[in-house]
Amino acid sequence: MSKIFKDKNILIGISGGIAAYKSADLTSRLIKLGANIKIIMTANATKLIQPLTFQSLTGNPVYVDTFQSTERWDIEHIALAKWADIFVIAPATANVIGKAASGIADDLLTTTILATEAKTLFAPAMNTVMYQKQIVQDNINKLKNLGYAFIPPGRGRLACGDWGEGKLADVDVIIQHIESHLYSSKDMEGLRVLVTAGPTRESIDPVRYITNRSSGKMGYAIAEACIQRGAVVDLVTGPTSLQAPAGANVFPVESAMDMYQTVLKLYDKADIVFKSAAVADYRIKEMASNKIKKGQDSITLELVRNPDILMELGKRKTKQILVGFAAETEELEKHALKKLNRKNLDFILGNDVSTKESGFQSDANQGILFSKDGSTISIPLMTKKEFAHRIIDEVMKKVKFD
Ligand code: CTP
Repeated sequence: MSKIFKDKNILIGISGGIAAYKSADLTSRLIKLGANIKIIMTANATKLIQPLTFQSLTGNPVYVDTFQSTERWDIEHIALAKWADIFVIAPATANVIGKAASGIADDLLTTTILATEAKTLFAPAMNTVMYQKQIVQDNINKLKNLGYAFIPPGRGRLACGDWGEGKLADVDVIIQHIESHLYSSKDMEGLRVLVTAGPTRESIDPVRYITNRSSGKMGYAIAEACIQRGAVVDLVTGPTSLQAPAGANVFPVESAMDMYQTVLKLYDKADIVFKSAAVADYRIKEMASNKIKKGQDSITLELVRNPDILMELGKRKTKQILVGFAAETEELEKHALKKLNRKNLDFILGNDVSTKESGFQSDANQGILFSKDGSTISIPLMTKKEFAHRIIDEVMKKVKFD
């Protein structure tokens, strides 16, 4: 597992919401990613989950508010405020948000919010009605305008039994936000990036389709990395089981024809296109309008060619930088270079999908980035997230924007 948070000091503030127990998972995940973690809990939070849990996970004392320790927190809030590279309040109750928005500092957590210069992120968790109350929304907006960041809550069944908005965001989403605030080299600011991801589905009849093994992970990782680096991202995605990166403009599509039409609509505005989708080369000539019933011993499906989306983009290229992907099982270099030239690309990432560790479903990737100027860069096995940044690093080196 990559240590993306190595040597980073992450301060987690836990306030008294039922979701406080989820902070244990967050803490443990961040530690595995290499972070140093310190925890502040409100007195109410300690009623929901024991400080000892966090002490054991982090190996650090947990800073807890009690009336008895007021003299202590008077000094501690400064030390913690300075120590933190980033301060994440998860869960953030309506009460803590309200206090922070009013500049109230009456316990260790709220005092530290006031005392720190570190980026502060709130992950709200509360009942839907509370979350949607005007006063809470006003407080959130006030804090946002002051430069505080919010991780939007999810929807679902809440601890009180209600359904709706207000669930603490998924731990994965919180980690994504932390990462993008910690590593905010904004070298793609002002750029619009079009990313295609995932497989396409070509319908045979209303219940059956032809598809491929693409998971969409590489495209989603590229979209996420571009957002982190400040780009506006349009993500055109075939069906995947992945959660779209926060902040992407998502355009879900099914078939290659859907993808073709959507991509062409977005193309003019794009500065860079990462065409990582695994587009089906053929579709069924005529989709049956009803479910095909079994009868004959054998049937024949007639397939016709789909448009080559990337080839079309190559033809219509004006200012765009085109990055294609070639997933091959043999003669990688030969096939990748042929595609680079034929489709008028600026780069193509060739990878060998016959290996287990870097294939379609894997979380890791390795490959060779071929550039139209003849240079090649070999990228060793790494997580798809790191891999995405490596490709972008190379693309950004070669590309000069006005
Ligand atoms: N691509 C596309 N539209 C298609 C087929 C492919 O836009 N109908 C894009 C893919 O998104 C990828 C690149 O072209 O970026 C290469 O895709 P690949 O399937 O490897 O190449 P093909 O040109 O389809 O060639 P072949 O299937 O013969 O290997």
